Amino acid sequence: MYGSDSINDDSERTAFRKTEKKYKLYYDSTSKSSKKKKQPRPVDLSEVIDFKAISESFDRNGDLRAGVSKLECPFDRPVFCLDDCPGFYFIPAALSIEEQCRWIKESLMSFPQPPNRTNHNAIYGAVHNLFNAAKNKQALVKDETAPAEDDSVSVDINSQNHRWACLEELDSSVNGDSCKSVSASVLLRKLRWSTLGLQFDWSKRSYNVSLPHNKIPDALCQLAKKMAAPAMAVGEEFQPEAAIVNYFGSGDMLGGHLDDMEADWSKPIVSMSLGCKAIFLLGGKSRNDEPLAMFLRSGDIVLMSGEARERFHGVPRIFTDTEHAEIGSLEKQFSDEDDSFYLEYIKTSRININIRQVF
Ligand code: SIN
Repeated sequence: MYGSDSINDDSERTAFRKTEKKYKLYYDSTSKSSKKKKQPRPVDLSEVIDFKAISESFDRNGDLRAGVSKLECPFDRPVFCLDDCPGFYFIPAALSIEEQCRWIKESLMSFPQPPNRTNHNAIYGAVHNLFNAAKNKQALVKDETAPAEDDSVSVDINSQNHRWACLEELDSSVNGDSCKSVSASVLLRKLRWSTLGLQFDWSKRSYNVSLPHNKIPDALCQLAKKMAAPAMAVGEEFQPEAAIVNYFGSGDMLGGHLDDMEADWSKPIVSMSLGCKAIFLLGGKSRNDEPLAMFLRSGDIVLMSGEARERFHGVPRIFTDTEHAEIGSLEKQFSDEDDSFYLEYIKTSRININIRQVF
């Protein structure tokens, strides 16, 4: 789902694609000989809906911009809706800074742990302790003594490629042969997704209930149930059964898509943003409908339920520069030496945890 910019078909001409291109990170081309740092191309952000500003203005004087309403509900923080988009809810700063740090840590340390799958499974099989291995400058080393497997087979979600099995000290002999080892820090940077609870099979775009899995951690379940409440029918409780964790670095994007593999679309997807600020696009039922752009900051929660689930959506831009990333509070919270590796990661990254009821 991560976009490349080389698509050259009809999707190139849709309103959604045009808006993606408007906000996507491009660098101004400089001559090869130039020693100047590449500069991101400036982008006009004046049309991006800012729910933080909306919330502050509402707190100050009760004002709301046209098209935005505040949901009347017994919830302990303001929940905003878009008048033209039933089923879409935005909860700005829903997570405290402590909660944000907790879920960033879990997303890096625990969520990529087997039996949860990640994008690395297809090539390397199950990788254990990736975050600590990266922190300790270790490498994933190819075990030449293990039975050879055809790597092309390993794109099958069920395969386990035992040739890439162990993490060893990264020393010059290991590092010198790039075919036989890959540093854990490179793998951490290339971590794109992990799946919790029922495992999602990306190749078939469906849940594969036969794959080994753990239940979604209880604390995350409780949080998702609480946050889902504004989008639930009276008397019903959200049942978190699966989650996809997306990891974004600078320049990454999530192309326009629908999340349509769950049985009951009246149930919300609970989507938590962590780390650097991003732009979220909320389109219509066709890619030809012009999407609305809005900022997503660390701690914001979006709910998409009912009709809103039929709308294309995506993330064309992550801001990793100091001015726009807006992660000052996270930086303070992660200022302990023990947390410095988390800080290093999150300074240039964004994590999204989206939690689903599958059945
Ligand atoms: C998604 O739509 O699957 C994720 C959206 C986000 O990253 O906020």
